[in-house]
Amino acid sequence: MVSKKIAVLPGDGIGPEVCRQAVKVLEAVATRFGHRFEMQSYPMGACAIDATGNPLPDETLDACRAADAVLLGAIGDPKYDNDPSAKVRPEQGLLRLRKELGLFANIRPITAYDILLPHSPLKQDRIQGTDMVIFRELTGGIYFGAKGRTDDGEGAYDHCVYSRHEIRRIAHMAFQSAAGRRQRLTLVDKANVLETSRLWREEVREMAHQYPEVTVDYLLVDNAAMQMILNPKQFDVILTENMFGDIISDEASVIAGSMGLLPSASVGAEVALFEPIHGSYPQAKGKGIANPIATILSAAMLLEHLELNEEAALVREAVDEALNNGVLTKELNTTAPYTTEEVGNYIAFWIADSSEKQWN
Ligand code: IPM
Ligand code: MN
Repeated sequence: MVSKKIAVLPGDGIGPEVCRQAVKVLEAVATRFGHRFEMQSYPMGACAIDATGNPLPDETLDACRAADAVLLGAIGDPKYDNDPSAKVRPEQGLLRLRKELGLFANIRPITAYDILLPHSPLKQDRIQGTDMVIFRELTGGIYFGAKGRTDDGEGAYDHCVYSRHEIRRIAHMAFQSAAGRRQRLTLVDKANVLETSRLWREEVREMAHQYPEVTVDYLLVDNAAMQMILNPKQFDVILTENMFGDIISDEASVIAGSMGLLPSASVGAEVALFEPIHGSYPQAKGKGIANPIATILSAAMLLEHLELNEEAALVREAVDEALNNGVLTKELNTTAPYTTEEVGNYIAFWIADSSEKQWN
């Protein structure tokens, strides 16, 4: 029996709907294993701006700091995207949260599920067997460098800065992951143009001596974008900076057949944060069509982070059951789609029931 505190940040758009299902799944896990998960929700993103004027209220940040882990739905609202003069934006809440919690590594696993191969627009034989994990640097680079307008108001700038320290700490994680997988690490950068990329290469090349079992490749990001859909099976662990990682992980989601399947973990300091890679998908809000699996798999990663591996494995098994039985939302099951809630219920019930299954 363990007792853990999980701060839940449902966020905006479909965030609350998909989070509800993941919370339900975590409750089923708690019941099944006799654990205690104290899960409380806090505002972040556009909903927090509406309520308090601040996308990351102090109370939310404090609750995250005091928690064992954070589960996040999604943030963002089109009313801010369409207003370039908006001073406060939902995204600032997420970026600040990542920075404040020291979450410098964003881990995004991409798997092609056999049963879903026909849903990918890519040729099946190209993507079958894809199994990669992207290590995206999350608290540096162009996202966090100085930004502003030029004095004459005629220009704007976003500085991209990386320190050796920032590169090294995530590179170690990526090397360690590769060592435990298929021993292949690809650094994605733009070293033919960017000085920051050259620093990344320098550090990674140096570090490679410490991990002789890992083969390292260096790939320019434009080529990587092409290779990602041309031959994704070649990748094992991809290591890259903040913005390149943002872009290629959305691209990689096409391989899985739906963005609604892909989870992520953001780690670094003590508290870690788990969130689907998809956004708040405002058009789908309240319609019951959002796929909760990415958030449920994020909850599985959360359990692994808490070293509850058996529990996480059961969640993954339950998700596989849903996939294999077509218990899927409409982007993956066009003939007889299930709602967000039905998918969540199926997975939670399967977990609750599994003790009986084992005894039968
Ligand atoms: C992501 C998102 C965020 C990012 C946005 C919402 C700031 O796209 O988590 O991938 O760019 O990091
Ligand atoms: Mn993104």
